[in-house]
Amino acid sequence: KAKYSNVLIKINEAAADFYHRVLASTNAGKRGLDYAQERDLSADIIDHFRIGYAPKQNNLLLTYLRGHHYQDKDLLDSGLFVQSKAGEMFDRFRDRLMFPLTNEGDYVIGFSGRRLTKDKTEAKYINSPETKLFEKSKVLFHFAEAKKAARSEGHLILYEGYLDVIAAYKAGVKSGIASMGTSLTDQQVYMLRRITNNIIINYDGDEAGIHAEERAAKMFAQTGGFNLGIVVLPEKLDPDDYVKKYGSAKYLDEVKGALTPTDFFLKRLTQKYNLDNDREKLAYLDEAIRAIAQLPNPVEQDLYLDKVAREQNVARDSLKVNLLRYRRQNN
Ligand code: CTP
Ligand code: MN
Ligand code: MN
Ligand code: MN
Ligand code: MN
Repeated sequence: KAKYSNVLIKINEAAADFYHRVLASTNAGKRGLDYAQERDLSADIIDHFRIGYAPKQNNLLLTYLRGHHYQDKDLLDSGLFVQSKAGEMFDRFRDRLMFPLTNEGDYVIGFSGRRLTKDKTEAKYINSPETKLFEKSKVLFHFAEAKKAARSEGHLILYEGYLDVIAAYKAGVKSGIASMGTSLTDQQVYMLRRITNNIIINYDGDEAGIHAEERAAKMFAQTGGFNLGIVVLPEKLDPDDYVKKYGSAKYLDEVKGALTPTDFFLKRLTQKYNLDNDREKLAYLDEAIRAIAQLPNPVEQDLYLDKVAREQNVARDSLKVNLLRYRRQNN
């Protein structure tokens, strides 16, 4: 790896090595390793993603880095430590499984740490605070590697969580990335834009995930020029749970079956109405046709019109009359 001179990168890189070593080869890391095994993370995967464990004691990283002659001022700037009122410093991350977050050059600039316990009074994940180096809105987990994989895979796949990116990786998808949580930023959309137009969104299959897919799809549409696929996993599963339950091959089929934004929208729309009721069915058809009339491409309009007519068992020609009417209104 090339040399880096930024002291905050040095500190974060050293911390990643420390956490990783604690997890992979110390007694203090046994708790973390047990949890990692529970989550199906093999030694290879742990090495590849440089996953680590922040020990329970509150000053082991501090002692380690001071021992490497880093100044307290820089250590504080790194975001890895918190300070008591009396000015005493402590490790920020304790008893957590550590995911290094890297910049585009794949250098560590921050961390996200998952709690090991089921204790819901503690945050499931905590992240490094914003630093000069770590701007959350511009970070995408696994981006440095995914952008290389995008060349051969032909797309990038957007996930909600780190463990989803990792599960996809195990299934053979190396182009997975994740923002920190479900809110995608404009900066992240532009980062993706530079790499490829082909984006697949695969958030969790629960209501929150599907809503976030809607929001993300809108952002991509607003920027324009993207070719979007949207995966909706069954049974509210997230990709990690899905791979665990159904295996890699079935997961890859789900990705192949990604919906176009219009299919996704129409499917969501059918769920809004009770289609056994004629009044609601008419309302559904009206909303669907209005949406189809907004599509820029007439061939696409015809395709989805056919589909809706077939699925709802209504005459295509009467739907077409309304489509043409709405199309005129749009112009
Ligand atoms: N997240 C977060 N803080 C939380 C909860 C979630 O930052 N308290 C972010 C994390 O980046 C997480 C993502 O939102 O990966 C998705 O949340 P969720 O689906 O709840 O977590 P999972 O990724 O499924 O993690 P796990 O499987 O460990 O529960
Ligand atoms: Mn190792
Ligand atoms: Mn979720
Ligand atoms: Mn999830
Ligand atoms: Mn999960």
